[in-house]
Amino acid sequence: MAVLGVDFGTSNSAAGIARDGAAHLIQLETGDMTMPTAVFFDFDSKKMLIGSAAGAALLAGEEGRYMRALKSLLGAPLMREKRNLLGEKLDFIDVVSRFLARVKAAAEAQAGTQFERALSGRPVRFHADDARNAQAEVDLREAYLRAGFEDVAFMYEPEAAALANRSVLAEGDLGLIVDIGGGTSDFTLFRNGVDAIDILASHGVRLGGTDFDRVLSLETVMPLLGRGSEIRHAFGGETHTAPATIFNDLATWQKIPFLYAPESRRLAKDLAQYAVEPEKFGRLVSVLVDELGHDIAFAVEAGKIAANKEGAGKIDLAVVERGLGVSLEADQLEAVLGAMTRQMAQAALVTLEQAQVAPQAVTHLVFVGGSSLMQVTRGALAEVFPEAAVHHGSALTAIVDGLSLAAEGAFS
Ligand SMILES: Nc1ncnc2c1ncn2[C@@H]1O[C@H](COP(=O)(O)OP(=O)(O)OP(=O)(O)O)[C@@H](O)[C@H]1O
Ligand SMILES: [Mg+2]
Repeated sequence: MAVLGVDFGTSNSAAGIARDGAAHLIQLETGDMTMPTAVFFDFDSKKMLIGSAAGAALLAGEEGRYMRALKSLLGAPLMREKRNLLGEKLDFIDVVSRFLARVKAAAEAQAGTQFERALSGRPVRFHADDARNAQAEVDLREAYLRAGFEDVAFMYEPEAAALANRSVLAEGDLGLIVDIGGGTSDFTLFRNGVDAIDILASHGVRLGGTDFDRVLSLETVMPLLGRGSEIRHAFGGETHTAPATIFNDLATWQKIPFLYAPESRRLAKDLAQYAVEPEKFGRLVSVLVDELGHDIAFAVEAGKIAANKEGAGKIDLAVVERGLGVSLEADQLEAVLGAMTRQMAQAALVTLEQAQVAPQAVTHLVFVGGSSLMQVTRGALAEVFPEAAVHHGSALTAIVDGLSLAAEGAFS
């Protein structure tokens, strides 16, 4: 029975199989082997759009509900809460399963075969909490089954990346995979053998590029919408700082859809009424009413990538208000994201402790995952492994390459 390798990522997904000992990826979108892990429930056409089409509909201002970073919700009780979407009662497991069904259909059309089984990647830790971490895999398994797969096996994402990158190591070399993705950072320490690898330890932490976006948004954009600003009491001259939750949610990819409810709009309007700086809260109200949360998140992500690549970027907020925007310099990335990247480096060291290996013994540091393209992450990780040779694997496809190679063997 044919087995499909699937990397269901927080930000991007990919699928593939092995052919003649090499990974062969499925073209999930025209000309592209990866596809944004995003959906859009289009209220006009009553269709569920998937991947790039979902993002395009959102940016075109179509009426509907956009969702990204669904993987971050796995394991949370709300995965199983049913909601009304396009006239159907669906829970988020259904939403993930429809996304996976699209991946399955594309793979079957291109490979000319049915895939009854999947080898899925998973982060080493979906959550720090053990119960939630276990529940997340239960939820993801159920999504694969509802998508029409008869069975699914799981492999740690960084272990898959180790399989795909072992050729850069000589026999006996000690490699550390550093996979910094959208939702999690994952590490595998392995020794390269003659025809296999020996996995010594894997560890991970729930921090990734979407968290970079969140803190950047909180520090630079949310203050323009009233974060940290004062609210007058209805009676008397005293003030208090605006509640933080609404800004935290608005800055967090997977929480944005939940803000588009009457309660948050009412709260924002109340805040605007008593605000010391009402123009800021006026923006908050219009962002919630016009449903611009994801547009802001995309603007922050684009500013982050530009600042990282070119040294300076801009978070363009013209959708919120004409001419509105903030500039973002590379040294701000270090200031705002530094603490988080040090936590990632700490998690890498925990991986080594688990195997009782000293950092100096690591001969190769292999970077994969989209957020490994950030200078701040590279710097923080390279600092703790100064002796290691640095190799950059393919940022967005290393995990699916390894899953493709391992897929057939996963059920035998
Ligand atoms: N050129 C770039 N520079 C910096 N960051 C980037 C770049 N391209 C993508 N990213 C970031 O990489 C992240 C996505 O990486 P990736 O596709 O590896 O994650 P994922 O596999 O979907 O997530 P996870 O593995 O955590 O579930 C996003 O946060 C994105 O903003
Ligand atoms: Mg990934």
